[in-house]
Amino acid sequence: MSNHSEKPAHARDDWTIDQGWSDYTADEHAVWDLLYKRQMDVLPGRAAPEFLEGLKALDLGKGGIPEFEAMSDELEALTGWRVVAVPGLVPDEVFFDHLANRRFPAGQFIRKRNELDYLQEPDVFHDVFGHVPMLTNPVFADYMEAYGKGGLRSLDFAALKNLAALYWYTVEFGLIQTDEGLRIYGAGIVSSKTESIFALEDPSPNRIGFDLERLMKTDYRIDDFQQTYFVIDSYEQLFDATVKTDFAPIYDRMQGKFALKPEDVVADDDVITRGSQAYAKAGGRLAPVDGGK
Ligand code: PHE
Ligand code: CO
Repeated sequence: MSNHSEKPAHARDDWTIDQGWSDYTADEHAVWDLLYKRQMDVLPGRAAPEFLEGLKALDLGKGGIPEFEAMSDELEALTGWRVVAVPGLVPDEVFFDHLANRRFPAGQFIRKRNELDYLQEPDVFHDVFGHVPMLTNPVFADYMEAYGKGGLRSLDFAALKNLAALYWYTVEFGLIQTDEGLRIYGAGIVSSKTESIFALEDPSPNRIGFDLERLMKTDYRIDDFQQTYFVIDSYEQLFDATVKTDFAPIYDRMQGKFALKPEDVVADDDVITRGSQAYAKAGGRLAPVDGGK
């Protein structure tokens, strides 16, 4: 969400740009369709019902990269959110201000065919397929707005890292417990075929019940599968725990630092799965395919 250089000349004061939908090539639309199909091979039975309902409500599988204005008209009618195009990552205060006003900033470029599985910067597939469906859920939509407002407030504290951990472990990599078992709602997982399977089925990562302070003091991986996933019971739990808590004393206790490593498990944790960490120990994404032999 953060990190940026100068505002590009073609961006407006709020860093938004035109999506330039008519400039997408047929091959770029075909990459969206391919990514969509790959995810739909793995997401039924793995993604949260609210995510799958959102995909359907916005008809994101109708073919091709969605046009932001038309999609936003549909989304706005449901929860008051719109999607705006931005040139990649934007400054924190700009990002928070968009969220606080129920605008989701999305990248407009799409990944190339040789980087279907892993890319550094969020593209339109991650941002739209991954994030926008959950914005059709009223409680989650309110949580995202509150997060933006909380982000603006956090700028007065040395707290950005701890607040970012909350976003990371919920909005990007969150799991939810349902009557049918664990399901994915985090955008970083649902937009990745390999992590959709890893997050739910691999014995490597820890899966731990959501606890606000525990999570905000936990460091995270930005370059590989997570070593710990946090599990909420409901979006109401997430909303209540964050909106009804004053973060100022938490920020004071944490001082912008992480007391726990990504793989740590501590005494008070509600451990759903204690991970073996075999994947990370073997070197993760960059592990030699032949096991180093
Ligand atoms: N309650 C938080 C605060 O006092 C704001 C917040 C709400 C942050 C929801 C994140 C999510 O700063
Ligand atoms: Co994201």
